[in-house]
Amino acid sequence: MTLRLKPASARRILRTRPFFVGLSEPSPWTGYLRYFERNQSAPVPTLHDLRDLRISWSAELGRSLGIFRLGETGEGRIAHEIESADYFPVDPVYSSALKLFVAEEGKHAAILGNMLRELRQRPVEQNWTYRLFFVARRAIGLRVKLMVLLAAEIIGCECYGLLARALPSNSAGAALAGIQKEEKVHLGFHCHFFYLLGRNILSKTLWRVMYETIAHAACISVLIDHRRTFRKMGVGYGEVIGRFLRRIAQGRQLLRNGCPHPAIAEAIL
Ligand SMILES: [Fe+2]
Ligand SMILES: [Fe+2]
Repeated sequence: MTLRLKPASARRILRTRPFFVGLSEPSPWTGYLRYFERNQSAPVPTLHDLRDLRISWSAELGRSLGIFRLGETGEGRIAHEIESADYFPVDPVYSSALKLFVAEEGKHAAILGNMLRELRQRPVEQNWTYRLFFVARRAIGLRVKLMVLLAAEIIGCECYGLLARALPSNSAGAALAGIQKEEKVHLGFHCHFFYLLGRNILSKTLWRVMYETIAHAACISVLIDHRRTFRKMGVGYGEVIGRFLRRIAQGRQLLRNGCPHPAIAEAIL
């Protein structure tokens, strides 16, 4: 005979029965940890045939890629800070997944660095939108930092997608499409964190207001800073704004409903 329990009853039993020591609830992050572990062994894409890009695109593309590369670096600090967080939904599985997420962003920076070398462009050392991102990322509190990273995923999902579509028959375009695919999962990963974190109406509202503010501010600054690249790609302001707003709406939906598995992010984003 199979004993059927409601999830709430099972949780209560696990909490209140000392003889079940050693049994714990499954982590909500197992799917993401497996995903990041699998991705770790994926090869870094090789780049070839960027000669045409060097001639027609290099200045605008090099500048934008250089700024995005800056944004992909320097998240190591958060991987240390997560060790001292002791609140739900942080658990050891989340900490491990977050460290692998940081490593994946480092891989993106390396791919973008390779593109800059192929395009014979010098890496960008400083930039005002990166400066804003850098200051915001150093904000007090791990949760605010994670919200800033969430907003950066909105930018990543859209900008890498736009660039990949503009360079469809190029190895750089394929590599950017690969990065965009991973940014979508990152977006789901961060949204699920804030979905689980908002346990009452007050905290849900607080995180939603912060999400709207930071995500819109990030999109506006990128729109201004990369306007020449968008123009070069033949993408008008109206289209870029529409794309950013749709992506923000998707994030809003994930904050409301959660995104418990990377496959969901890959399917719906
Ligand atoms: Fe990235
Ligand atoms: Fe990302």
